Amino acid sequence: MRVYICAPKDGEHEVTNFVESDSNLSRTSEMSYTTTANHQLDETQHYGKQKGTEFSLVQVKSTWKRKSVQNINQIKKGRVSAAKIYESTNSNGTTWTVVSPIVFTYMVTQTQNLLDPKNDTLLTGHIREPQQLAIIRSNTKPLKRFVVMDEIVYNLYGSKVTDYFEARNVLYRILPLPTTEENKSMEMAMKILEEVHKFGIDRRTEPIIAIGGGVCLDIVGLAASLYRRRTPYIRVPTTLLSYIDASVGAKTGVNFANCKNKLGAYIPPIAAFLDRSFIQTVPRRHISNGLAEMLKMALMKHRGLFELLETQGQFLLDTRFQSAIGVQGDHIDPASVSTRVAIETMLEELAPNLWEDDLDRLVDFGHLISPELEMKVLPSLLHGEAVNIDMSFMVYVACERGLLTEEEKFRIIRCMLNLELPVWHQDCTLALVQKSLCDRLQHSGGLVRMPLPTGLGHAEIFNDTSDETLYRAYERWCDELSSGSPW
Ligand SMILES: NC(=O)c1ccc[n+]([C@@H]2O[C@H](COP(=O)([O-])OP(=O)(O)OC[C@H]3O[C@@H](n4cnc5c(N)ncnc54)[C@H](O)[C@@H]3O)[C@@H](O)[C@H]2O)c1
Ligand SMILES: [Zn+2]
Repeated sequence: MRVYICAPKDGEHEVTNFVESDSNLSRTSEMSYTTTANHQLDETQHYGKQKGTEFSLVQVKSTWKRKSVQNINQIKKGRVSAAKIYESTNSNGTTWTVVSPIVFTYMVTQTQNLLDPKNDTLLTGHIREPQQLAIIRSNTKPLKRFVVMDEIVYNLYGSKVTDYFEARNVLYRILPLPTTEENKSMEMAMKILEEVHKFGIDRRTEPIIAIGGGVCLDIVGLAASLYRRRTPYIRVPTTLLSYIDASVGAKTGVNFANCKNKLGAYIPPIAAFLDRSFIQTVPRRHISNGLAEMLKMALMKHRGLFELLETQGQFLLDTRFQSAIGVQGDHIDPASVSTRVAIETMLEELAPNLWEDDLDRLVDFGHLISPELEMKVLPSLLHGEAVNIDMSFMVYVACERGLLTEEEKFRIIRCMLNLELPVWHQDCTLALVQKSLCDRLQHSGGLVRMPLPTGLGHAEIFNDTSDETLYRAYERWCDELSSGSPW
């Protein structure tokens, strides 16, 4: 599967007015970044309604000129940018408001045998323009790649990566690093940057490659985004969680001041190359961890995925997502189907909201209470485990509100247990729940924005869950689940 993300969709309409501009405002570079953000398009409409003079920008020969929009139709030659300048004057002075649309284009590619020297994906899979690909293929100069690998992944797959680059005559440097959650820091990002700088790369044509779990991908993504203000990078996820979650979106980050991902950027990779075969060496607990994020998407958006996890969960765990690997286009294999649906549903939610400007996000399900719980008990719960405990509680809230039947609640909790995920935790106290929801209220524009399932595979965002409902849900949650599975 190969998916191109051009976020946001609205931006594409805007760009049709835009005759092949190559300014640094909106650039179709060799590395194929074209850019526009949702809120910036809203800004265009917003300022357009305000008083002030609106200017378009037209490129004639090599220079850009402001042209008032009334005169734009008379222009016969030149390129018109999607950017606008609004000029307004009041008693305090003159203001030029610049609205510069930015579009991110990136690819998510599911592939097999990524490290087989016959497979081009790792080296050129991010290139979309056939002309550019032809130039690279005809060039005799070796390609150059800087690669950061999680140390454990390096011990398992380092020789295959080396063999790949050797066979393809690439000038490469592999940097193995202990990219653990405890090391997910700015210091680690700086270490990567120093090595990148020593090695030397061409920012336009030599993307940095990250191979590892979510921690490795997040740190490398941030380092790349800082280097020369934005160097393209490629994600190669090696855990289930990073395969279906961390690889698919735009977020990068490191921990800071004892807070998770406090420093980061919304800069997507130029491409993510997904090969399920890495998952065969991932410890079983970490596969369950990834399954929690997959279950999240199932409960929010896809009944079929839920039913698949319900019936095939143990099989997926036992086979470590390796069934039917190598079988092209297998549409019934649970590993192929579940990963594909998880990625597609995740992309549907992320692409129109890449910078998370819209605070009503179904993908936040399981992430209202879990950050507080995860930090409180660190390192005893993995991220997906904390998410699952949060989801389990929210299922009780949904049931208490009459959004789910008892039978549906029962099925969900049984599915969670089947995926070998925790459904209750003693440190998830009512006080912690209340504090988390209070914090959420403060940071989400005064609304709690609570995603809740409204059936299997359907959900809505709620802002009116009463304290009484929370309390009753909490009591039942503890009564039924604190002493182990009642079923
Ligand atoms: N950017 C995003 O949108 C996003 C989304 C979700 C999670 N994350 C981040 O991802 C991180 C969690 O990711 P994770 O669960 O992949 O954790 P991780 O990167 O810590 O990897 C888990 C463990 O598995 C090992 N490992 C990785 N690949 C392996 C393989 N193929 N075989 C054997 N062992 C392997 C790692 O060395 C590590 O010990 C968190 O820091 C979280 O903040 C980011
Ligand atoms: Zn998560």
